[in-house]
Amino acid sequence: MKLLSGVPGWTVTADVVVIGSGVAGLTTALNLRASGLSVLLVTKAQIDEGSTKWAQGGIAAALGPGDTPDQHKKDTLIAGAGLCDSKAVEVLVTEGPEAVRKLIARGAVFDKSESGEISLTREGGHLRNRILHAGGDATGAEVSRALLAAVQEDSGIEVIENALAIDVLQNSAGKVYGLTLHVIGAGSRDGVGRALARAVVIATGGLGQVYSQTTNPSVSTGDGVALALRAGAEIADVEFIQFHPTVLWRDESLSGQQPLISEAVRGEGAFLVNNKGERFMKDKHPQADLAPRDIVAKEIFRQMKESNSPHVWLDATGIKDFPDRFPTIYASCLENGIDPTKQLIPVSPASHYASGGVLVDLVGRTTIPGLYACGETACTGAHGANRLASNSLLEGLVFGTRIASDIAQNIGAEIAAEEIAQPTLLIDPAIKLTLQLAMSQGAGVMRSESSLRETLATLEQLGTRTFTQPCIEAWEVSNLYLLATAIVRAALARTESRGSHWRSDFPDSSDKWLQRIIQSYDVNGDWHMRFEEVK
Ligand code: FAD
Ligand code: SIN
Repeated sequence: MKLLSGVPGWTVTADVVVIGSGVAGLTTALNLRASGLSVLLVTKAQIDEGSTKWAQGGIAAALGPGDTPDQHKKDTLIAGAGLCDSKAVEVLVTEGPEAVRKLIARGAVFDKSESGEISLTREGGHLRNRILHAGGDATGAEVSRALLAAVQEDSGIEVIENALAIDVLQNSAGKVYGLTLHVIGAGSRDGVGRALARAVVIATGGLGQVYSQTTNPSVSTGDGVALALRAGAEIADVEFIQFHPTVLWRDESLSGQQPLISEAVRGEGAFLVNNKGERFMKDKHPQADLAPRDIVAKEIFRQMKESNSPHVWLDATGIKDFPDRFPTIYASCLENGIDPTKQLIPVSPASHYASGGVLVDLVGRTTIPGLYACGETACTGAHGANRLASNSLLEGLVFGTRIASDIAQNIGAEIAAEEIAQPTLLIDPAIKLTLQLAMSQGAGVMRSESSLRETLATLEQLGTRTFTQPCIEAWEVSNLYLLATAIVRAALARTESRGSHWRSDFPDSSDKWLQRIIQSYDVNGDWHMRFEEVK
């Protein structure tokens, strides 16, 4: 299956094409250069767009005195609620510290204490202070700045901005030899073109825009996961959408990206209260307000239902240096008429992170030859049913390095281009908000068989709204539609509650469900679901 698009009017060639310029794409591109391969990096909007630059809390790594990768592993496995691939977690936590040191060597500057040591804070699910941060709450901006500076200095990496990857190109054996992309450019590279390469790395980030309210920027429409699905790749764990517990509540009628109030604010002493002023997390979990994210999000949701209120409150008034420690959050609160040093902050959960994605092995290979996936787009198994806070930037650093090394060792020869006839898909962009609202309503923090069936029926109806004029909005909506359908199908199949998948009709976890749900489409466009025991 492919997206309906125009005939490619131009061609560009490189050894490897990397799609996306977040932490995952940039790290992969830089490491590929170490082996002398030429890299084409294509990115949908401006080069610094994506979730990476929005990351607040920090990067988790066992760098503090007395901390060990093993303790980081334990916390990651607990947050993942039984579904983590323990080998993937092992790789993440043991290679994490070195990956962070390399990032520092590349120029990233993290906050330090007065004695000159890197300051480490805590977030939900961590039993130790192990989160490095930069600019107080602007960690992602610093990571992005440092990596972009290194990429821009490297003449072996060609960057094309405003370049939306549409689909991969595959020969009759299914092997990937490049991709089709649409560029809003000038001169010889404008409109639909082809990028030919010996390997393609998808690093297109998350899919938060499937929901009406999200912390994710507008580019996070899950294009890479949808592209991989259409190419026949397997995707896994997509029912595990992480809802961040503390997103600034402004108005229910708003859609799109909403301001995040980092978990690190709770790490520095803030706590949640309900309308009666009660600290409701206190007796719900030994880690109280710093319980893993899914547990806090569920409890907030319950409190909101009970009090019929659209939000709960975060009390951060005890954090004396709030404006200095959290400058970004302070500014966004003030912009919205709240002074967090004096007032409670209204917060509610919103979609934040896709714990699942394109199924990959420990070196980022998808199930399609020549196609790799990295970062939030990929499902390495390191997050299981619920990602541990601040493990995502780390995953981009660690697996970006591994992917580059695998490509360098195993890259094949160029393969001849072949045109294969395939069914096409294009959905009317006008359905976007209806789809997002249906997903928030029926497949959000809490789901049930009836809410999911209703959502699926809505999606089936929206799927009949086909479109004939290829454009960016239609490609993105078609991607959202494919992913929404996959999320709902998996959420319906998983008749239990686990991690960030909460079924009101199946409130308990079941050992029978210690397996992953894996989905794919075959060459005829027929959909398949299979189940795999967790390793
Ligand atoms: P991204 O950074 O999202 O980059 C994806 C790139 O792909 C972008 O350049 C985008 O433009 C491009 N792209 C998308 N589609 C296409 C296409 N079709 N063609 C071409 N290019 C495309 N994680 C942590 O570990 N710590 C934190 O403190 C933290 N805080 C967060 C705060 C916020 C507000 C958000 C939204 C997320 C946060 N996360 C955090 C999660 C983390 O930021 C992301 O998971 C991570 O940055 C993802 O990196 P990535 O490189 O995979 O994707
Ligand atoms: C946050 O700062 O709360 C977000 C951290 C994360 O998503 O890892």
